[in-house]
Amino acid sequence: MRIKAKWITSPRDAGAAAVTFKKSFRPQKPVSRAVLYASAMGVYVPYINGQKVGRGVLAPGWTSYRHRVQYQTYDVTDAVQGKIELSFGVGQGWAVGYIGYADTNHFFADRTALWGYLDVTYADGTTERMITDESWDVYTSAIISSEIYHGETIDLTAPITLIGKAVERLVETSLIPQEGEWITEQERLAPVEIIHTPAGETVIDFGQNMTGYVEVRVKGERGGRIVLHHAEVLDHEGNFYTENYRAARNENVFVLSGGEDVFKPLYSFQGFRYVKLVEYPFDTVDPNCFRAVAVHSEMKRTGHFVCGNEKINQLYHNIIWGQKSNYLDVPTDCPQRDERLGWTGDTQVFCRTAAINYDVEKFFIKWLGDVALEQTREGAVYGIVPHCLGKGNRTRISAAWGDVACIAPWQMYLAYGNREELRKNLPMMKKWVDYLHSAGPEEFLWMDGVHYGDWLAMDGNPEEVRGATSNDLIASAFFAYSTELLVKAGEVLGEDMTYYRKLYDKVVEAFRIYFMKDGMPLEYYPLTGNEQNAKADPFRQGMTQTAIVLILHFGLCKEDERAALAEKLAEMIRANGNRMTTGFVGTPYLLHALSDNGYTDLAYTLLLQEKNPSWLYSVTHGATTMWEHWNSLKEDGTFWSKSMNSFNHYAYGAVFDWIFGVAVGIAPVAEAPAYKTVRIAPHPNKVLGFADASIDSRQGKIRVHWYYKGDTVYYEIEIPDGVTANLTLPSGYSETLAGGSYCFAEYGLEL
Ligand code: BGC
Repeated sequence: MRIKAKWITSPRDAGAAAVTFKKSFRPQKPVSRAVLYASAMGVYVPYINGQKVGRGVLAPGWTSYRHRVQYQTYDVTDAVQGKIELSFGVGQGWAVGYIGYADTNHFFADRTALWGYLDVTYADGTTERMITDESWDVYTSAIISSEIYHGETIDLTAPITLIGKAVERLVETSLIPQEGEWITEQERLAPVEIIHTPAGETVIDFGQNMTGYVEVRVKGERGGRIVLHHAEVLDHEGNFYTENYRAARNENVFVLSGGEDVFKPLYSFQGFRYVKLVEYPFDTVDPNCFRAVAVHSEMKRTGHFVCGNEKINQLYHNIIWGQKSNYLDVPTDCPQRDERLGWTGDTQVFCRTAAINYDVEKFFIKWLGDVALEQTREGAVYGIVPHCLGKGNRTRISAAWGDVACIAPWQMYLAYGNREELRKNLPMMKKWVDYLHSAGPEEFLWMDGVHYGDWLAMDGNPEEVRGATSNDLIASAFFAYSTELLVKAGEVLGEDMTYYRKLYDKVVEAFRIYFMKDGMPLEYYPLTGNEQNAKADPFRQGMTQTAIVLILHFGLCKEDERAALAEKLAEMIRANGNRMTTGFVGTPYLLHALSDNGYTDLAYTLLLQEKNPSWLYSVTHGATTMWEHWNSLKEDGTFWSKSMNSFNHYAYGAVFDWIFGVAVGIAPVAEAPAYKTVRIAPHPNKVLGFADASIDSRQGKIRVHWYYKGDTVYYEIEIPDGVTANLTLPSGYSETLAGGSYCFAEYGLEL
């Protein structure tokens, strides 16, 4: 058997500092192939003769380290043609430093550790392997402190000293080959302005809220210090504002060597648009010395969209940047404050849109693998994956959060048609539904749970995080929805789903009995028991926009009840000045519930609404990413709160799934997923002027472009060979299209 690499660590606890592991290797004969394998508890960078190996950053990425950690593979044949010095810098990263709010560190491990080996194949076919073991030397490094939340200090004057020989470390986890995408540097943004604020601060504006770090290239006196603070927004006086970062310091400190220096953090990242020069050792600020480097998972861009309304185009831009900023190996809620966590609710809300914008199949294969591993024996799925809250804390097991277990696998199946992945996820889906079946006192409802509810909805107390819709109603509605998706998935895979289909019927029946009367939800539901619920669910209403949206979209009503429900929803929206009151739970389905039930015009009105709450409110207030709250920045220039106010929270960007799937009208169908059959059903409207969208699906590019000339609307449609398109135009005209380019025109529609 080949010798196995050992997990090794520094002989002395390095604390928050990064250390370097080093060993030389001299090939015995001509090398035909050399491959390096590496992983870490922490975050590592590999080097050969001081040159970085590979394009990845923040390797090995973030998984549920208690169960598994990825290792990466690098072809280093070209570099290993003579004697080399192989070294690894290792910093704390997610595994060792603060993560899961700023009071938890060492959640996964209390020390960094390295694992790896170099496999060399000689020209004569013989092989040699160099592994990590106690023969490696460990040195201090210039990175004297690094934390994901707090930033990094790089001191190029710090003496580099030998700490000693590495020691073996017991790391109880499984090593798996890289399953997700590489995390890489993606774009480099130049400063758009150097601002001198009223408070006397020097601030660089990169013009775009984003995730990554600032790279600084300078030559100055040895020992000179650059201290950078980051911010997403300026306050209403134009001063640098960081309170919404909460405890995350986001501070990068660079100490100059005296030569040509290039600084950027190696084991940390920030969410920011603005950078304040807290200390800067030069009299003038040359913008050319600074670049903002956007870092995220290496996903292939697949979706494109443009329309005749510049504000909607900006909204789309903000949605794309929301995804870039929060798809950094794990789908996170936000990239800047002391969270940056894999919140399951945010993920299920956005995943359908995510799979239009980018190819996220691999990204989700990895993350859903962690969701499955962290699911409890009873089937519960918590609010954050990977779990990383300290002191025994867990998040809630919440409806619309845990349901990611059914929603995300199904959406990935629709987008990519990967039956094997769906099969792999089916046990997780079943366990979640079984959990719902056993949760609470009622067999076919999910009552008495403690949930996040219609998070951030405006109909409770708009200054509060809780919406008015009853948690029991939401939870039971999602019980039905998850069961429905499970049945669909099982049937696709040829499983006998009789049991779950019956369960679904029972849940819908129970929902109708308990939550509806005469085809409508009740005004109010009394508390059924749980005291904690009284706090988490103070309003318990049924006659809310979100409740009706769920009933319509999840099919919890009878067909003949739809019209009245949709009319009621429309009435409530109009009575609220053509504005929604929905939060995380209702908003993703709101426009669908309207357009599926004859109110497409009202859906457009909501889409184009600019008053708070609306999608365009943030756009008209200068947003470059999606905000956590509809009015994170209030009309009077003040902020929604100090403590919970992210300017880069993608969840509400889920509206793009309606823009793309309904307004432009391109949607996958379950019978032939991955767009092998595509539904083309545009809903043109003059308010957009034109809309042009495409997706580079696995079958090729599918494109729909509609535009107006006078009262005539034209449709240009491109379908790749081998794809069947089921076309329905607003006039009711329908046709099945094969691969090819088409043009249709309709005249005199009342649109
Ligand atoms: C996060 C949310 C998340 C929520 C749970 C927040 O702190 O930022 O996006 O889903 O907690 O309700």
